[in-house]
Amino acid sequence: MEIQNEIINKDVTHDRVFIEAPDKEPYRQYYFMAVLNKHVKKIIKEIDRPLTYSIQTFGCQMNAKDSEKLAGILEKIGYVPVDSEEADFVIYNTCTVRENANLKVYGRLGYLGKLKEKNPNMIIAICGCMMQEPTVVEKIKKSYPFVDIIFGTHNIFKLAELMYIKVDADRMIIDVWKETDKIVEELPSERKYSFKASVNIMYGCNNFCSYCIVPYVRGRERSRDPKDIIAEIKSLVADGVVEITLLGQNVNSYGKTLEEPMSFAELLLEIDKIEGLERIRFMTSHPKDLSDELIEAMRISKKVCRHLHLPLQSGSSRLLKIMNRKYTKEDYLTLVDKIYTAIPDISLTTDIIVGFPGETEEDFMETLDVVKKVEFDSSFTFQYSKRTGTAAATMENQVDPEIVQDRFNRLLDLMKEISAKNANKLEGTIGDVLVEDVNKQDPSLVTGRLSNNTLVHFPGKASDIGKIIPVKLTESKGFYYFGQPLV
Ligand code: 5AD
Ligand code: SF4
Repeated sequence: MEIQNEIINKDVTHDRVFIEAPDKEPYRQYYFMAVLNKHVKKIIKEIDRPLTYSIQTFGCQMNAKDSEKLAGILEKIGYVPVDSEEADFVIYNTCTVRENANLKVYGRLGYLGKLKEKNPNMIIAICGCMMQEPTVVEKIKKSYPFVDIIFGTHNIFKLAELMYIKVDADRMIIDVWKETDKIVEELPSERKYSFKASVNIMYGCNNFCSYCIVPYVRGRERSRDPKDIIAEIKSLVADGVVEITLLGQNVNSYGKTLEEPMSFAELLLEIDKIEGLERIRFMTSHPKDLSDELIEAMRISKKVCRHLHLPLQSGSSRLLKIMNRKYTKEDYLTLVDKIYTAIPDISLTTDIIVGFPGETEEDFMETLDVVKKVEFDSSFTFQYSKRTGTAAATMENQVDPEIVQDRFNRLLDLMKEISAKNANKLEGTIGDVLVEDVNKQDPSLVTGRLSNNTLVHFPGKASDIGKIIPVKLTESKGFYYFGQPLV
């Protein structure tokens, strides 16, 4: 592709003009976006239709956020989004936290191969956590040779450069970094909602819970500079955002690696001061790092939402030790007690793994006991999945799948019982709802969330989207409420 001696458009290069690819990021990527934009415009003229893209996201909110960045880059290049995978550019942003996630991707890749036979100019890219595992990349090279670009979790910012290389290369482009200390931000991002957004505050995880692959595929903890975080949130607020979710694998250890260390509680209180911002959420908290200072910051803040996701994983102190979680059942219950005392209206949710190697009936009963005592508002429950490379994968006493299934069902039954008991706790009260959408089934209603994340439907119109409206919760429907607006 000819790019030499070409002046690249000013508007797409962060107000700078480059005649060749600069070394410094993110300018380097803006340069490639501009070059590709010209290339794409030429193709669109030739084929007389827009070039389309589709991103399929698997896994957690981190991946969802990464996908917004990928979408931002593709739109800057000139692609338009479509829902279907029958697109000119398809990206799979993968997850590998449990085996099922991997199997899903392989299954769908087969289908993508068939689509590519019909549209040979289609470009297929795969990125995300699965790609950080060398055995996965080998398998794709061997069994899915039609894939065009493979990249990992550390270099998603490089999409434009990789696409640029692919234009002239008749081979699979693979660029997966083992580790990085780089944080490249300020790239375009295509937000799903106009009024809420997520903001990365840190990357990676240092905890090495013995079942978990994340530290291997997302690398060591790196915190973003608080000034950059605040600046990003201020610019989102100026753009109409009222709710932000701060993202990190373990937000409670935010700031430890900064040149001038800062606690997560301090960061929260700084963000709390941003005018125009109404709600702050964050994910995920590790119980071992949840400080009294943070509970106090949450208590005094008017903006931090009354919801805390606090993964338990197991209620058995014996298993928690083998899981390398660094807290006991008693520590967890004491922490919950402190949180409920400081913030009585808080909603607690959790993650639980059933069937970790060596889990006995007694261990499982301890988990049920914590669930009964805490009465979580909702829980994500998972059957243990063996991840090669983690410490637990080589443990010999794996639990019989039938026993795991039975315990899993019993845990779900208990959760249902608790949900039913607490279902109408808020009936008759008034709560502020941030309106997210027009109700899909009944367009005379809008749907939004309370501070504690509960869904509420009430009469409203599309122009209410993004507004916070006081609503009387008139009727409980189990997982959600119907209400009447008070304005
Ligand atoms: N098997 C089952 N669940 C897992 N999780 C992480 N690793 C595994 C695994 N190997 C769950 C944990 C974590 C959530 C994101 O996924 O509960 O909190
Ligand atoms: Fe995985 Fe544990 Fe890190 Fe969470 S804290 S990402 S469960 S290693």
